[in-house]
Amino acid sequence: MKILMVCLGNICRSPLAEGIMKAKLPDNCTVDSAGTISMHEGEHPDKRAIKTAAHHDIDISKQRSRPITRIDFETFDKIYCMDIDVLGDVVSKTKNEEERQKVSLFLEVLGDHKNAEVPDPYWGDMKDFEMVFQLLDKGCTAIRNQISK
Ligand code: 4NP
Repeated sequence: MKILMVCLGNICRSPLAEGIMKAKLPDNCTVDSAGTISMHEGEHPDKRAIKTAAHHDIDISKQRSRPITRIDFETFDKIYCMDIDVLGDVVSKTKNEEERQKVSLFLEVLGDHKNAEVPDPYWGDMKDFEMVFQLLDKGCTAIRNQISK
C-alpha cells in the first residue's frame, strides 16, 4: 500500500500526516506527502510543525515540500486530502475513474466526520498545531486499522 497525504503548501498538515503515518505503518507500506501549490517547493516543514512532531518523538525535519504531479496518480494507491479545497484541486487533476477512486478527504476515515476538514494551522499558533496533530493522529490510526483488516 502506497499512501500520499496532500494539503495546500506541504509545509504544515501533510508533512505532519506523513510523519505520523510513517510511525504507524507496517513495513510493506510507504507514505509520502505533497501540496497543491508549488510556492514552498524545496522548503523544510514549518518550524512549528517540526516542533509539534518532535514533541511526540516524530522527526519531520528532513522532509521537503513538493507539489503533487501527474505521476503521483499512478504511483499511489490512496491519496488523502486535508480539506475540501485541496480535494477539489486534486480531483480536478485526475484523468479517469480509477484515479478518482484513489482520492478522498482524510477525515472521512473516521466515518462520523463526513466532509470534515483538517484546519489549516498556518495562520495560527502552537495550540492550533497541536490540535491538528491530534486530529491527524486519530485519522492515521484509523487508516492503519483499515490496512491491517
Ligand atoms: P499547509 O499550510 O497547507 O498545511 O502546508 C499552509 C502553508 C502555506 C500556506 C498556506 C497554508 N501559504 O499560504 O503559504
